[in-house]
Amino acid sequence: MGAPSLPTAPSGVPAHIAIVMDGNGRWATRRFLPRLAGHRQGVESLRRCARACADRGVSVLTVFAFSSENWNRPADEVSGLLDLVARALSREVPHLLKDGVRLHFVGDKESLSEKVRLGLCEAERATAHNQRLVLNVCFNYGGRWDIAQAAATLAARGEPITEASLHTTMGLAHVPDPDLVIRTGGEMRISNFLLWQAAYSELFFSDRLWPDFDETALDEAIASFARRERRFGRTSAQVLNAAVPRTDPLHA
Ligand code: IPE
Ligand code: IPE
Ligand code: MG
Repeated sequence: MGAPSLPTAPSGVPAHIAIVMDGNGRWATRRFLPRLAGHRQGVESLRRCARACADRGVSVLTVFAFSSENWNRPADEVSGLLDLVARALSREVPHLLKDGVRLHFVGDKESLSEKVRLGLCEAERATAHNQRLVLNVCFNYGGRWDIAQAAATLAARGEPITEASLHTTMGLAHVPDPDLVIRTGGEMRISNFLLWQAAYSELFFSDRLWPDFDETALDEAIASFARRERRFGRTSAQVLNAAVPRTDPLHA
């Protein structure tokens, strides 16, 4: 429904992984560096993680890069982050092209400066033909914003608000829901990430700070996912006796 067919992931590998990339500030502070140095290292970690996901057969990686609430940070950190994204975009596009990564930005683009907005759109356009991995970067994003904007869009069109219509009007309508949501940095909360789409995701919390989240840590999360039994409301006996859908029936 809405989502295009993507290559099937190898058995036990999540087709769609979503990550709350947390811990950049602490990584820098522990090294007596400014917090922005941690965010810079976070970009390196994301490049490595995207490559590793593609190598393991993951089709979609969705990451939380800047939340609706992150505007509450000190002004110099916010402007540093926006600047970092603008510069990372032009630097990263050649890597994304080489790695076959298609970039999508999900979030409220309207309230960003024209310079940042054009940069995001240009990076999306430049990578639009890539097919190895879809990388959704949630930027100026909040799960509540996403649900509210979808409802407002449907209301303005005079269309009924249903689970199915909301799903196809939200930011991640172009991909299936995440199978696995990882949060690094040791906190066990969702912080307004994918409130709708994570309804049936498996959760994995890692104590590693995001810049330290390497291939070994990713493999640990995938191995944990492979051991889970996804029941989607059914009983364990039903799952064992029948072919259970890989995703939530609403989006199968
Ligand atoms: C996550 O790292 C990145 C963003 C929120 C932009 P943090 O900056 O939250 O790092 P900690 O949690 O302070 O260590
Ligand atoms: C969540 O991390 C947002 C991103 C990773 C972009 P935060 O560090 O902002 O989350 P809280 O505020 O500690 O919950
Ligand atoms: Mg944090």
